[in-house]
Formats: sequence, structure tokens, C-alpha cells
Amino acid sequence: MKTTLNGKNIVIGVCGGIAAYKSVTLLRLLKKQDAHVRVIMTLNAGAFVGPLTFEALSGMKVCTSLFAENGEDASIKHIEWAQSADAVIIAPTTANMIAKLAAGIADDALSTFLLAVTAPVMLCPSMNTHMFEHQTVKRNLKTLKQDGYHILAPDAGELACGVTGPGRLPEPEIILDRFLACLTPKDLSGRKILVTSGPTQEAIDPVRFISNPSSGKMGQAIARAAEMRGADVTLISGPTSLTEPLNIKMIKVNTALEMHQAVWHHFEHTDIIIKAAAVSDYRPVNPKHRKIKKVQDETVLELQKNPDILKELGKNKGGRILVGFAAETEDLQKNAAMKLAQKNLDLIVGNLIGPDDSGFNADTNRVQFLYKDGTIETLHKMSKDAVAHLLLDRILQLTISS
Ligand code: PMT
Repeated sequence: MKTTLNGKNIVIGVCGGIAAYKSVTLLRLLKKQDAHVRVIMTLNAGAFVGPLTFEALSGMKVCTSLFAENGEDASIKHIEWAQSADAVIIAPTTANMIAKLAAGIADDALSTFLLAVTAPVMLCPSMNTHMFEHQTVKRNLKTLKQDGYHILAPDAGELACGVTGPGRLPEPEIILDRFLACLTPKDLSGRKILVTSGPTQEAIDPVRFISNPSSGKMGQAIARAAEMRGADVTLISGPTSLTEPLNIKMIKVNTALEMHQAVWHHFEHTDIIIKAAAVSDYRPVNPKHRKIKKVQDETVLELQKNPDILKELGKNKGGRILVGFAAETEDLQKNAAMKLAQKNLDLIVGNLIGPDDSGFNADTNRVQFLYKDGTIETLHKMSKDAVAHLLLDRILQLTISS
């Protein structure tokens, strides 16, 4: 099921590091997810970003001290925050805060809050490479991991201090993605899922090809949702401009033949296959090695059929769950039902093509789920992320009942 932050109480803890400015964007991203966000800062964090910035964006008073502010009892306030928190992100987490947490030291507002909180906590270590690689920091992080904290590994690269190596705070979008991942129940743990996504490109000559407008958004939404839910995911993708999803084995292909080969290479080691790719049915017979010159007024392009990858999988699927997509401009249900039977699928997603809010390149989708027992589920318009999670819910039910 899709994890939502809507209405959840999220606390961001900010420690004193050069990357503290990234927490401002993180706060905005969390607010966009309709979370209630509160911020607790260490004294040193205030030297990098002022509490007013966080206050203006969160609409909430920022907690910076254990002591009374404006007559309020701050020590009670952050215990209340700890009790009401649904989840916590500490970004950046300094070596000092890591050491305090590992030792159980509570000597300021943030470290005291952290000892009182029982909700999941994600730590985002960020510091100089030599500090990050220091045996004490390593030992403390190991302890915290054993204690159940989620630790987001820092990025490697050139750091503000001039040193190159691990220690950089990942971008806020990545922090949010991994935060959602650590809050998502792992109901697909142990499942090996293969997803195909995006278009294929069939060369006519070195500068032209036959393709379609698939962006890869639907397939990647499925791959990301499955990864967040604990599956071991392989994504075979045609060309796309999307950023590569995290923690997923991604195999890039161009042509239908390359996709065919990659799918069969991974077939043995999968138990669920979801084919969201828009594969070209035909390819030019003799792609030219040099650019075709514009000399004739008319020309004929000879095409030959590509292998129907899904149909071949259907003949050999054994105990695997096999899911296809059917992109249709008309007679969605009839055409999808035909493909479900012809390709020996367990489920097919009929995908309406035509409206701007559905199908190719849209962020939302209008789909129907058709099952091999004849059941049909017609869904209202929803985000591709929501379609992905619902599809995985249904696949999970199929694996339980089969
Ligand atoms: O990538 P987006 O921009 O997000 O768009 C998503 C999408 C519209 C591409 C996707 O939701 C979708 O509908 N994908 C299937 C598109 C398609 O090619 O449908 P089809 O009816 O032509 O093919 C039926 C099924 O057979 C598909 O699962 C397809 O992957 C598979 N197939 C088709 C031809 C072929 N040679 N080999 C195949 O495996």
C-alpha cells in the first residue's frame, strides 16, 4: 500500500553543518506532501541557517533550546513533540550528534528529544570524509543501526572543505524518497520482480528511428513502488530522460531485440514480471549505416516483425505471475481482454490512450485491471504512483491465492 505523509507529524532535526541549507528544501518537500512539519535545531545549526527561515516555511515555532522561551516550558514542549511525532529526519546529522545518540547523552533540545521519541528516525550523516571514515564515527553508526535507526549513506564527491570522498548530504529529493522507503511496510520482501518500461527505438539509419512517446513514468513508478515495499527489483528500460531510480538494478536497452534478450537473461531469477514497456511491433529490415539522403520524393520503408516478448513469456511462465499492459485508443476492455487470453497473462492493465491525463507521458493514468478469471476493475483517474501501488496490492493478492 502507498505510504502517505498526508496529515502526519514529521519532525526535522537540524545539526550544525554546511549542508543545513538543504533542510530548508526538505521542509518544503514535506509540506508539499501535506505533512505537519516541526523543526528542532541545535545551537550550532543556527550559525548556518536562522530559525526564522524554518519558522516562515513550516508555519510553526522552531525549538532551539531546552529552556523556557516566552514563558513556555520548553522541556515539556519537546517531550510533547516526541510523543506526537510519526517520524523523524535528522539532516544533516553531525559526528557530534551521532556520538551523543550512541552514548545516550541528552544535553540540548535535539538530543533530549531524540531520547524521548519512539517513532522511526532516519539519520543523514554529513561531514568531512576523514571524520566520516573515523573509526569512532563508524562504530557509533554501527551501534545506531543495531539500535534500529535508519541511516542514509552520504553521497561521495567534492565536499565544501575541499576534500573528495563520502560525506555530502544527499539532495532533499533523495532524502524524501529514502524517508518514504523506510516508512513503507515491506510486504514484497523476498519477491524478485522484473519490470519493463519506456519505449524502444528501432534504427532506420544513424540519425532516425521508429519509436513511440512512452516516457517510462508508468514503468518506473511500478519499479520504485516495488523497491519501497521491499522487493528485489530489476528494471529493463528503453531510452528515457527520467532520473535513475534508487536501489534498483537498471538495465538500459534501445531496441525490442535488446529488450527481448535482457528479459530472457533475467527470466529464470524472477517470480513476478510486469511489462509496462511500449515495445515497437516492427523494425526496419535493413537499417542503413549512413544517413539516408533526401533524393527521392517518395520512399518505402520495409519492416519486419519484432518478437512478441510477452507472448513468449506467457508460453513459458511456469509458476510466475505475468502482468501485461494494453495501450488502447478505443475498445479498451475488449482489446485488453483479447491480449490477456492470447498472451496467457494473470492480469492485464488496460491503459486508455487519448486524453492528456492518461497514458503516454502523463503523470496520471486511467486504467482497468482485467483478471484471467474474468473479473474487471475500472479505476478512476489517479497518479501513476497510486496505480503502481494498487497494481502491486492486486499482484500480492494473486500470489497469496495462487
Ligand atoms: O511510459 P509512460 O509515458 O508512462 O506511458 C505508459 C504506457 C502508456 C507506455 C504504459 O502504461 C502502457 O500501456 N504500456 C504498454 C504499451 C503497449 O505497447 O501496449 P501493446 O498493447 O502494444 O502491448 C501489449 C503488451 O505486450 C505490453 O505489455 C507490451 O509490453 C507487450 N509487448 C508488445 C509488443 C512486443 N513486441 N512485445 C511485448 O512484450
